[in-house]
Amino acid sequence: MRIAHLDFGDRPLFLAPMEDVSDPPFRILCKRYGADMLYTEFISSGGLVYDADDSHRKLDIYEEERPVGIQIFGGEVEQVREATRIVDAVGPDLIDINFGCPVKKVVCQDAGAGILRNLPKMEAITRAVVEEATRPVTVKTRLGWDDGSIRILEVARMLEDCGVQALAVHARTRKQMYKGEARWHWLRRIKEEGGLRIPLIGNGDATTPEKIKAMFDETGVDAVMIGRGAIGNPWIFRDAKRYMATGEVPPPPSWEERLAVVCEHLTLKCEWLGERKGVLEMRRMYGGYFKGFRHASRLRMLIMDETTRQGVLDVLLNFDPNAPDVQVAVPRAVRKAVPAALGATLPTPSRVAERPAALND
Ligand SMILES: Cc1cc2nc3c(=O)[nH]c(=O)nc-3n(C[C@H](O)[C@H](O)[C@H](O)COP(=O)(O)O)c2cc1C
Repeated sequence: MRIAHLDFGDRPLFLAPMEDVSDPPFRILCKRYGADMLYTEFISSGGLVYDADDSHRKLDIYEEERPVGIQIFGGEVEQVREATRIVDAVGPDLIDINFGCPVKKVVCQDAGAGILRNLPKMEAITRAVVEEATRPVTVKTRLGWDDGSIRILEVARMLEDCGVQALAVHARTRKQMYKGEARWHWLRRIKEEGGLRIPLIGNGDATTPEKIKAMFDETGVDAVMIGRGAIGNPWIFRDAKRYMATGEVPPPPSWEERLAVVCEHLTLKCEWLGERKGVLEMRRMYGGYFKGFRHASRLRMLIMDETTRQGVLDVLLNFDPNAPDVQVAVPRAVRKAVPAALGATLPTPSRVAERPAALND
């Protein structure tokens, strides 16, 4: 499967763009476990054009992530055009336009899935991005606004005519938000009836190795994009590839492997965001990482009391998931020492583009 000059081989697995999740630390871990393509979370065109520090930080991409796409959203043609120039200069492998976000504050600006009610504007935005970008442009969208307005076959052809080089479809309508089942039969219809030359990336409910394989088998999509199934579970890419190659799902990672990855994730977050913010933002991730383990909620409570990286590492490394009783915090004086190397095994990534000096306060 190819997107323009990028060759992904057979049945590639893409990490979905996810706000507050698909940041550089998480992307790097997913890449290590086999993700073939990574995307940033969506970035506001307005934020980029008006120099919002937060939006510019999201442009950070690293050499070792490649191929990586930067996703933008916006509802004003000229603003999205200007944002494309900014994003293009950062050097991603492709630029993705978000026409799928269902959140009210986005759709009411005609952005995200809101544009599904205004196809002429969708076309104008897409043409502007394709004109302005010096790299391939892709789109991620949904089936339609609601059940009464599914026009994805027509939309797919229109986007291809605009010069889009791949299309990712989350097989739900905007009205469904994240509820109900993703309607994979629409993916099959796009493949069979869409008459597209560009690749189709299937998305929605491909949350286990079995479901990932089933999406390929049942719909004929060229790639599968994985979102929620990867949160706290970057191993899903490795496991799905092994399952597709051998028919066997590997056993879940051991506590030790999980712990090593969590510690590394935490360290990378702290490197990227600074210690305070990194420790706080990492709190959202533990639920996924420790799902199914005994005493997981107790462990999360213990971590919530910690505000430093070292404190969290201490808690993690002194926790025994096999202990018969619910554990209390191990007193600091008797905690095991954290090995110096743990959590610092990744080389410092080389940033592709420095943020503009004005933004580095
Ligand atoms: C926490 C979260 C944040 C998301 N943020 C984005 C985003 O920034 N851009 C986007 O195109 N989709 C976003 N999505 C949607 C996912 O990319 C994906 O389409 C959706 O979760 C369905 O795939 P899944 O069933 O594999 O999770 C987000 C989803 C979640 C759960």
